[in-house]
Amino acid sequence: METTLIILKPDAVQRGLCGDILHRFERKGLTIVAMNMMLISKEQAEKHYEEHKGKPFFDGLIRFVTSSPVIVLAVRGQNAIMVCRKLIGATNSQMAEPGTIRGDLGMSGSNNLVHGSDSPESAERELNLWFPDGNFDTTDRTKDEWVY
Ligand code: PPS
Repeated sequence: METTLIILKPDAVQRGLCGDILHRFERKGLTIVAMNMMLISKEQAEKHYEEHKGKPFFDGLIRFVTSSPVIVLAVRGQNAIMVCRKLIGATNSQMAEPGTIRGDLGMSGSNNLVHGSDSPESAERELNLWFPDGNFDTTDRTKDEWVY
């Protein structure tokens, strides 16, 4: 079982798409084990995206994710990191496959609705950053024959 860090970005909140997006994770069989709506600070955003510091899109990305509230989630399931990335789809929403969140709901290359951790190392770092208590439900749902 894995836990991954998901952020519903400002465009998802502003466009009223959070219910649809959360529904997609839940319908897949993933479990939301923590959720927090917040306006994030520039410092928090820079820490979250620190591996991208210096890239041409970095400043715009930080401005975007701090522009209005986001919803930060911990999502749990078997291979949750990979499964969530596949559900989210390619970075540029115009290139994202239909059936994915970005492919179905977005048109923008930068305002792309959702962040999902891209590796176990990133998930651990990001979960510690956003949920330092780490007090999640760790039930092993692979034993749930209705899901797995
Ligand atoms: S890289 O360089 O391949 O590692 O970058 P990538 O994984 O594609 O993207 C890293 C995060 O930056 C976001 N991104 C952008 N934001 C705004 N504008 C532009 N042009 C842009 N390009 C990439 C991208 O969505 C990734 O953020 P998350 O939140 O992880 O999706």
